[in-house]
Amino acid sequence: MSSESARRQRVAFVQGASRGIGLAMVRQLSRAGLRVIGSCRSPAAANALNAIAAREPSVEVVELEVTSEPSIARAAERCAALTGEIDILVNTAGFLHAGNRQPERRLAEVTSEQIRYSFEVNAIGPLLVARYFEGLLSRSNGAVFASLSARVGSIGDNRRGGWYGYRASKAAQNMFTKNLAIEWSRKKPPIICLALHPGTVATDLSAPFSKRLDPNQIFAVERGAAQLIDIILGARQEDSGRFIAWDGQDIEW
Ligand SMILES: NC(=O)c1ccc[n+]([C@@H]2O[C@H](COP(=O)([O-])OP(=O)(O)OC[C@H]3O[C@@H](n4cnc5c(N)ncnc54)[C@H](OP(=O)(O)O)[C@@H]3O)[C@@H](O)[C@H]2O)c1
Repeated sequence: MSSESARRQRVAFVQGASRGIGLAMVRQLSRAGLRVIGSCRSPAAANALNAIAAREPSVEVVELEVTSEPSIARAAERCAALTGEIDILVNTAGFLHAGNRQPERRLAEVTSEQIRYSFEVNAIGPLLVARYFEGLLSRSNGAVFASLSARVGSIGDNRRGGWYGYRASKAAQNMFTKNLAIEWSRKKPPIICLALHPGTVATDLSAPFSKRLDPNQIFAVERGAAQLIDIILGARQEDSGRFIAWDGQDIEW
């Protein structure tokens, strides 16, 4: 980071900040002294995020529905009106289950609707965020673009099967991140791209599936967010294009 960037307050954009890991990241990045823009699809309903923004002048809320390209474009325009550059962008919004949409345990449960929606939220959305926020990231010297992936998106590590939509959409997200890392390594200055696995973190997303796990294997949300923030803040150009777990270890693609 240049001395000029080091002098000004760094800016983070957390995409998917209404709950879970994204919300904890907003809280922690703001405490670390960054200006933070948190996005969510329904600002009027994002009570916890709004409460942080009401307390912290350095936290702002922007609307972004990650399955809608016009919404992503509008959010980028709104951010450009708020700030000249973004130094850290984290895609956290993710879909595994909601209401009667549950992860597929077997082929007979696969529907095109669920596969398509998983790809829209988990893969296509983060890529379009990259596209529309590229200008703001490019103005920072040493920006980091991170997307929350999942170990179950690893093809090499897939030993149990199931969860067709979630696994495949995270694998696609990983490919998009790797592609971006290559394209953005050629930029001047380059943008660092990371695919991050948070481990099992106690959020709404993991709750139905973590009951049989040893509680010691589940991170509290603040710890889960803090571990990822450490990786993001410490990332260097040579880390770009890596798929990294919460403990800094590489995950096979
Ligand atoms: N928790 C884990 O154990 C775990 C493990 C591996 C990977 N991950 C990954 O980590 C990321 C964060 O997970 P989490 O546990 O924090 O999940 P979470 O608590 O379920 O929160 C999901 C977030 O994504 C947002 N979101 C969902 N669909 C959206 C859409 N269409 N447009 C905009 N925002 C949308 C939600 O917003 P609303 O409030 O509006 O619904 C919410 O803020 C996800 O990508 C997940 O796949 C989590």
